[in-house]
Amino acid sequence: MSCSVEYFYTSSTESFSFPGPKLAAATFWYEFYYDLFPHKLRYLWKVEEMHKKYGPIVRINPIHLHINDPNYFDEIYAGGKRKRNRDPWYYSSESDGPLGWSVFQTVDHDVHRMRRSALNRFFSKRCVQEHQQMIIDKIEILCDRFAEACRTGDVVSLTFACGALTMDVISAYAFGAKTDNLKRKDFGAEYLVAYSKLSQFGPVGRQFPWLAKACLTLIPSSIMHRISPSAALIPRNRLVFRGMIEESVRQQEEEERSKPEVLFEAEESQKNKSIFEDILRSNLPPSEKAPARLAAEANLLVIAGTETTARALSVVLFHILDNPQILLQLREELAPLIPHPDSRMSMAALEALRFFPAVITEGIRLSHVVSSRMPRYAPEETLRYGKWIIPTGARVMQSHYLHHMNPDIFPHPYTFNPERWLDNPELKQNYFMGFGRGSRICLGIK
Ligand code: HEM
Repeated sequence: MSCSVEYFYTSSTESFSFPGPKLAAATFWYEFYYDLFPHKLRYLWKVEEMHKKYGPIVRINPIHLHINDPNYFDEIYAGGKRKRNRDPWYYSSESDGPLGWSVFQTVDHDVHRMRRSALNRFFSKRCVQEHQQMIIDKIEILCDRFAEACRTGDVVSLTFACGALTMDVISAYAFGAKTDNLKRKDFGAEYLVAYSKLSQFGPVGRQFPWLAKACLTLIPSSIMHRISPSAALIPRNRLVFRGMIEESVRQQEEEERSKPEVLFEAEESQKNKSIFEDILRSNLPPSEKAPARLAAEANLLVIAGTETTARALSVVLFHILDNPQILLQLREELAPLIPHPDSRMSMAALEALRFFPAVITEGIRLSHVVSSRMPRYAPEETLRYGKWIIPTGARVMQSHYLHHMNPDIFPHPYTFNPERWLDNPELKQNYFMGFGRGSRICLGIK
């Protein structure tokens, strides 16, 4: 069991002594009991209970402070010049793990900024718009699959169908790769299963980092495949990406060697470029361009772009189909944009609608895409929460799930009600956490 308790909590001064169960503050076994054995992945609900008993700030393990206050998010997940580091304990980031070295698992604020700046351009709105046709083409394949299932009476899993769409899109978008899951009978279900297993492995990795390391580095992938084919998929993908990147590096070097001398570079569209080419051409230091690191970045982009969007889409589709009134309202709003079944509409036209964006936002609220807590620490700042002082370096967090289900902010939180976003236009700006906030806000938000 890991116990990297490096700081501060032993002070007896009033403002440093945080409420919460004494046992939780003393040992990680408390969290183990709810998240691993005999319960499984239940600690979040225990934390919810703790808040009911102890108030909005609770010490939930020897090194974590959990806050449940809808008005404190922007302090923890600050942006701009206020530095926020990720908590290395929580992600137990192994450099040779599936996402090690990726922007998501980067602990240090400044290193994160450097890595993120190399990716931002590739995920700009303009860049997304340039890929619009590719995305529409893939949606049409999905619609054909739905139509075929209608004819044959087959039951389709929305989750896997949406997962095939999102994985095919992000792979084409980021690497120009054809994954063709939309054409597979099972929609390439094993990828979503693998990503879900990876998240479920999180608590094991946190409590027993040596075990996670052993699984990732010592067990040969052929044996891992026999134990759990889906668990073997993610490290295997990282190797596949590494091969693709090494090929990209080779091609780029080749191009450089054979390039005739030109006075002006032609402007190049992002459209058919892979993200690796973009990063390799960026001014990141050479160590940042190492194939092993870029492979982790590639793995992250596929996982983050596939599972999140698939979940959001399937939850939105479910609620639209489950609420005939909402379906009707949506159809009325969309009808003028779709005079014929084959009509195509632009992203700009969709964004200008009133009800449609509210449906998406409400769907994302209820998708709970990031259901785990998201610990951060301020490396150079002391935070204040009411009478409490949160010392520099103390890990502090909120949960998107508890926030999005807070009945004070979202009355009848279990109800799918897009109107709530229209009734109160400030709700989204102040309280929508679906894509996170601050310097580590979702890269794929556009
Ligand atoms: C509806 C779909 C999506 C939702 C709800 C979503 C949600 C989120 C959230 C909440 C975070 C922040 C996590 C944190 O605070 O630590 C995040 C981060 C991230 N997302 Fe998304 N995401 C979605 C789609 C995408 C897509 C399509 C991509 C494209 C690759 C993507 C890539 C990323 C990346 C790379 C990060 C890490 C950013 C960083 O640490 O700087 N996401 N996402």
